[in-house]
Amino acid sequence: MPESDAAIGIFDSGVGGLTVFARVAECLPDESIIYLGDTARVPYGTKSGETVMRYAAGCAGVLVERGIKMLVVACNTASAHALESLRDELDIPVLGVIAPGARCAVDLSRTGRIGVIGTASTIASKAYEEAIRAMAPGAQVVSKPCPLFVPLAEEGWLHGSVPRQVAAAYLEELLQNDIDTLVLGCTHYPLLRDVIQATVGPDMALVDSARATSLAVAETLNGLGLRREEAAPPRYTFLVTDAPDNFARVGERFLGRAISPVEWVDV
Ligand code: DGL
Repeated sequence: MPESDAAIGIFDSGVGGLTVFARVAECLPDESIIYLGDTARVPYGTKSGETVMRYAAGCAGVLVERGIKMLVVACNTASAHALESLRDELDIPVLGVIAPGARCAVDLSRTGRIGVIGTASTIASKAYEEAIRAMAPGAQVVSKPCPLFVPLAEEGWLHGSVPRQVAAAYLEELLQNDIDTLVLGCTHYPLLRDVIQATVGPDMALVDSARATSLAVAETLNGLGLRREEAAPPRYTFLVTDAPDNFARVGERFLGRAISPVEWVDV
């Protein structure tokens, strides 16, 4: 059994998972967190399931070596492809973002008509669709890859005509399907929430998987008696597989505060 004072490990393909880090830190302010961004191999969203599984196993290995008590797969693409294999391989609890996001969508939707947006690889995996249908067999799920949202978020291009036009082009087809709930199935999309909400209208429920996941992390730790009880403040560690400076610069926008220090690791 892992020790309750150990850190929660979170990994993502890059900076995007900091949206999950932020929610977990907000929900569990006493917990130490080690975050790994696989910035040398980002993006995962354009890659095959086999490649993503291999990358995910490498990231998990780095974090497990540091003695984490649970692993959170913040990346939607990695959660879609690698969650089961990581659970088989590791003897600590492993949580992804898909099931918590799907649960939240099922709870929010009144009509059972749910839209899902994510990377090409996440949408191709049908992971959200399958998770939603397992929870609500009658649900109608319509999915759409929205790859351009990732560079827009990283460039900080969150408002104005360019993101508005991109959102309109991507989301038009989903709107024709009469959905009442839309899952933001990618780490980057919560940054574009305003533009997405403006495009789909105020009545559409938007599901932020990061928020739903943080509640699931708390539930898991509580259930296993693994909540940290130390009086000393928590420790936050940031690891990357490529240039720490870039990560710190772009990541600040995702986390809303300076990130330092950032340590390079080899996977
Ligand atoms: N983190 C990825 C996800 O949530 C988005 C970025 C990427 O393609 O690697 O799917």
